[in-house]
Amino acid sequence: MSDADLADDRAGHDRAGVRELLAAELRPDELRLALGRFVTGVTIVTCRDEQGEPVGLTANSFNALSLDPPLVLWSLRQASSTIAAFTNASHFAVNVLAADQVDLSRRFARQSSAKFDSGDWTDGQGGAPLLSGCVAVFECRRHSHHTAGDHLLFIGAVERIGGSADTPLVYHAGHYRTLSE
Ligand SMILES: Cc1cc2nc3c(=O)[nH]c(=O)nc-3n(C[C@H](O)[C@H](O)[C@H](O)COP(=O)(O)O)c2cc1C
Repeated sequence: MSDADLADDRAGHDRAGVRELLAAELRPDELRLALGRFVTGVTIVTCRDEQGEPVGLTANSFNALSLDPPLVLWSLRQASSTIAAFTNASHFAVNVLAADQVDLSRRFARQSSAKFDSGDWTDGQGGAPLLSGCVAVFECRRHSHHTAGDHLLFIGAVERIGGSADTPLVYHAGHYRTLSE
């Protein structure tokens, strides 16, 4: 094994490629490693629960869906403590994080009731929290949601967009990264 392979092995992935496997022999961790090769941004998706409390989580499943009409999508683990809030809320907001918001991403990736205790945010459409300092914000009315395996797929109709920062946070192979030209 070369030094590079050894380093990759320690990092839990193989730089040489993805081992060919049929679905029947695929373990979840192997699928996760292959999926992690797809570079994404990082978002925090927010809404209000039925008691009016702010709810949010870090998500990188966000993607564009349609330009006309304007639709976006993301998926939520069915076992998430936030599932009731998002299935009941009329609106959600997708906050696309900036390169200097890694701490925020980490905070919203943990189950906690104190996620909104610090940091600047305001109410958006339907009360969904809008975090300040993001590269883009998509305020959405919940268009529909669909069961898809162990996740729920949410489709949002974009009602308003915004954003103030320039440089996005990047996620790849389980690590936070920044863009370099
Ligand atoms: C970079 C990153 C991306 C994530 N993307 C998603 C996602 O798209 N959907 C999801 O349900 N969880 C995702 N998670 C996990 C949630 O953030 C995490 O499960 C949640 O905040 C913990 O609270 P919960 O157990 O109540 O869901 C992601 C975590 C990280 C660090």
